[in-house]
Amino acid sequence: MASAIPNSQFTIINPNSFDSHPYIALRPHPSSNLNLSSHRTTSTNLRRRSLHLFAVRASDSNNSSHAAPLHKLGLSDAQCEAAVVAGNVPEAPPVPPKPASPVGTPVVPSLPLNRRPRRNRRTPALREAFQETTISPANFVYPLFIHEGEEDTPIGAMPGCYRLGWRHGLVEEVSKARDVGVNSIVLFPKIPDALKSPTGDEAYNDNGLVPRSIRLLKDKFPDLVIYTDVALDPYSSDGHDGIVREDGVIMNDETVHQLCKQAVSQARAGADVVSPSDMMDGRVGAMRAALDAEGFQHVSIMSYTAKYASSFYGPFREALDSNPRFGDKKTYQMNPANYREALTEMREDESEGADILLVKPGLPYLDIIRLLRDNSPLPIAAYQVSGEYSMIKAGGTLKMIDEEKVMMESLLCLRRAGADIILTYFALQAARSLCGEKR
Ligand code: PBG
Repeated sequence: MASAIPNSQFTIINPNSFDSHPYIALRPHPSSNLNLSSHRTTSTNLRRRSLHLFAVRASDSNNSSHAAPLHKLGLSDAQCEAAVVAGNVPEAPPVPPKPASPVGTPVVPSLPLNRRPRRNRRTPALREAFQETTISPANFVYPLFIHEGEEDTPIGAMPGCYRLGWRHGLVEEVSKARDVGVNSIVLFPKIPDALKSPTGDEAYNDNGLVPRSIRLLKDKFPDLVIYTDVALDPYSSDGHDGIVREDGVIMNDETVHQLCKQAVSQARAGADVVSPSDMMDGRVGAMRAALDAEGFQHVSIMSYTAKYASSFYGPFREALDSNPRFGDKKTYQMNPANYREALTEMREDESEGADILLVKPGLPYLDIIRLLRDNSPLPIAAYQVSGEYSMIKAGGTLKMIDEEKVMMESLLCLRRAGADIILTYFALQAARSLCGEKR
């Protein structure tokens, strides 16, 4: 059922000859000198493959004389039709030349692959269609540093971050974030030394910096989602997350008692999610009970489930002047060498009633994010911490990397590993970029 187009290099194969196959296929005349593929030598091979090569979807028509290729001649449909009626079937268009390869490209037989994953990556539309992970400003939680002052003071170790005046700078920054779809923030206070003590009692002062800022923000933006940090370090004269005994031991249960008071004070001010970052044992369960006893059943707990004793927190401690006055945090934060231990922490937090499980730091701990994602049905948060942020900023400033692209890739990777939400100092910058805004 094949018929030749005069002067053409092609033969149209009538679709009816393929059991109601919805394609019209063109194959080269056996006499054609068209060089399809220099390395394929047998004509049967050539013929079989070229059927696939030139399969063209037929439109509505089964009439082979109206097959699509005849339209690509620079003639209008009407001219084309008139020419055919007059018996002047136009020549088929020339086959576009195969794009040249550089001189010296080896001539090799095609690899006999039935799967070529690059097919699904060929065009922007295909790549977009098959993208597995997405990122949106709704996934971000924006950490903000606040202080009692009126001015916004830059943080040297975190370019682009400020200690914001709680009254003005904070409100402005939140408003900017909301403009690009970031409606979740977490507050970190810089507390004057005079208010610090060994037992960190300022942490549950209802008129302290954090509760005051929460009330102000809730007044201005009632639907803003406010996360708080629950830990004693900003309030501790020892710079530790808990109460330090004379012999240097961080006291667990006594600290948990303080943390419960802190969480309740934050909830009373209007916090939506309290986030214990202290790594004391049993604090989630105790906090849940304390919140419920005060009528805060609706307040969520985001537990820092797997928080490692990491050197990536350096710039943050500078920002808050919260470096431990002695020792380190290794008796409560996890050993960076440990993986299985994260499961122990996860089980505890789940059974104690955590609503969200957090992994911190982020990018160096993608395996831990994936571990929790695969073992818990709860939402997972990742904290891209200060050191991660500052390294990308520094690399960008030194023009060693493309800051914007590395920023977006790092955030996407956290999502791919399994994070639902990401705490990141890039929240505003990344959301602006996602909204197509240039700075
Ligand atoms: C302390 C706390 C820390 C961070 C958040 N909460 C520092 C620490 O544990 O010493 C670090 C955040 C960052 O580095 O961005 N409770």
